[in-house]
Amino acid sequence: MSDPAHIPSVLFVCLGNICRSPLAEAALRRAAQDAGLDMEIDSAGTGSWHVGKGPDPRSIAEALRHGIDISGYRARQVGKADFDRFDYIIALDASNLANLERLAPARSPARLSLLLDHVAGLEGQDVDDPYYGGPEGFETTWEQVSAAARNLVTGLLGRRP
Ligand code: 4NP
Repeated sequence: MSDPAHIPSVLFVCLGNICRSPLAEAALRRAAQDAGLDMEIDSAGTGSWHVGKGPDPRSIAEALRHGIDISGYRARQVGKADFDRFDYIIALDASNLANLERLAPARSPARLSLLLDHVAGLEGQDVDDPYYGGPEGFETTWEQVSAAARNLVTGLLGRRP
């Protein structure tokens, strides 16, 4: 990553890849674009139930409230190749982080972390799954993932040569 031409890459991982991680992907795309930072950004789920499906309509609506159309995103399952492809793999909660740690090949270069470890004051906390709740859960998710996205961009800009 000391190569000045290297494009930083981030993968967000939740359980279904239809509620939280698509919002994290959208928030980081927005923050990187606002900062003029070229990045590779994607999201995936540890589970396979929703593979090929679009985001939950409540996530689509929440992103639209912030002017971002995520209706074309499609869910996929995280795989071993992701650990070679991404610099940072960021889990939305501790249970998905534990699953990623189990899945990671030995000597994987990807750095694993918890999303809210990138937000001062919320370290160690989960982005709670809004799937079974009301629309306010999606608003909280957006606030949390967009705070983390802004901090990630600031951190990456600070690391640029
Ligand atoms: P996500 O939410 O992990 O934020 O995408 C979920 C969506 C669906 C299910 C679980 C979590 N599900 O069990 O179907």
